[in-house]
Amino acid sequence: MINPFRYGGVVGKDAFCNRKKELADLVKAMENGERLFVYSERRMGKTSLLRLVLEKLPKSQFLSAYIDLWPTDGEESFAIASAKAIAESMATTADRMLQAARQFFSRLTPSISADAAGNPQISFEFGKSGVTAPALQEVLAAPG
Ligand SMILES: Nc1ncnc2c1ncn2[C@@H]1O[C@H](COP(=O)(O)OP(=O)(O)OP(=O)(O)O)[C@@H](O)[C@H]1O
Ligand SMILES: [Mg+2]
Repeated sequence: MINPFRYGGVVGKDAFCNRKKELADLVKAMENGERLFVYSERRMGKTSLLRLVLEKLPKSQFLSAYIDLWPTDGEESFAIASAKAIAESMATTADRMLQAARQFFSRLTPSISADAAGNPQISFEFGKSGVTAPALQEVLAAPG
């Protein structure tokens, strides 16, 4: 028999079990614009739960951006990771991602590539000026 349980990474809705109350509570809290901290011991399913909650938010009313800050180590990498997540949340085609990038992140230089499945991905670089603060301001203002 094939083991139905998956171990090691974030589990999506086909492998995700239970947590029905937590899912419903978190969807409601996000719809109400609440600020939340979800904490537990390691490997209890926080990331899997939150990613599923974001999928469940009605797409016609909410744009959700998931930003993993773990690999970031300062203002520049924070701005770049956030701009990427925001631009990718706003568009699914390369053209529209670039359009969103130009509209919201005029101080960052975007480039488009494709993942293994051919889906467009955007990445950003800082311009040569090396000035971080205005780009950071743009990124922080973009969700609003
Ligand atoms: N609801 C669930 N249904 C099935 N498996 C789950 C569930 N929640 C967690 N798991 C299992 O736990 C593992 C860790 O899940 P996840 O990475 O979401 O946890 P985490 O709390 O974000 O971990 P970390 O503390 O390392 O960030 C998954 O690989 C999966 O095997
Ligand atoms: Mg996690």
